Amino acid sequence: MQPKDKLIIALDFSSEAEALNLAKETAPYAGVFKVGFELFISAGPSIISKLNSLGGRVFLDLKLHDIPNTVARAALSAAALKVNILNVHASGGFEMMKKAALEMKKIKNPPLLIAVTVLTSMDTKSLKKELHIGTTASVHAVQLAKLAKKAGLDGVVASGEEIIVVKKSCGPDFKVIVPGVRPSWSEKNDQKRVVTPREAVAKGADYIVVGRPVTGARDPAAAAKKILEEMK
Ligand code: C5P
Repeated sequence: MQPKDKLIIALDFSSEAEALNLAKETAPYAGVFKVGFELFISAGPSIISKLNSLGGRVFLDLKLHDIPNTVARAALSAAALKVNILNVHASGGFEMMKKAALEMKKIKNPPLLIAVTVLTSMDTKSLKKELHIGTTASVHAVQLAKLAKKAGLDGVVASGEEIIVVKKSCGPDFKVIVPGVRPSWSEKNDQKRVVTPREAVAKGADYIVVGRPVTGARDPAAAAKKILEEMK
């Protein structure tokens, strides 16, 4: 896979025009565009085909989390939109993930089905204080990754701190998508467990997700180009 195919730009906008503009500008440097709640809710499902027609692949980041039947049916609807990557929350449990994975296996050209482990905006302290989870964020993320693997998913979203241990526990083909990526020249914002693009790739990340360091840059194309160069 080329470095460009590993760079996912998070199109965190409410305006379709802004999202499409950014996608056009950064398409020479990034192979995947991530559509999250904000854009999907405001622009609607047609945004996916518009991005596909720009030649980019789409990661539909809706972090599905509900009872197994509801999630599996939503995953089928999402796959019908022709997305390349789709995700669910691993904390929705084994049965939820398994049912979605089984449905994906029945269709032609299914998207990669990925589980979100621990949000990169949460750390060990907030897990303990707010969610009463007694292990560290990294240990918890790896436990959830193993559960996702057992349920038949293709990979996980995890922080840069967990790339090596997830690959070791779940195998080299189990994909790791890493958000919370911050080049040294950008702000951390609300992300707590951050890595640089170079570190993430060196540790074995299959994809890195970058939002504000590109979307908030004065020259987004130049920022994406700089990140791609760092990844090489
Ligand atoms: O702007 P920034 O680079 O922080 O954006 C990161 C993107 O990755 C956001 O769209 C966010 O929703 C997403 N994400 C994350 N942490 C996860 C899963 C997804 O930050 N664990």
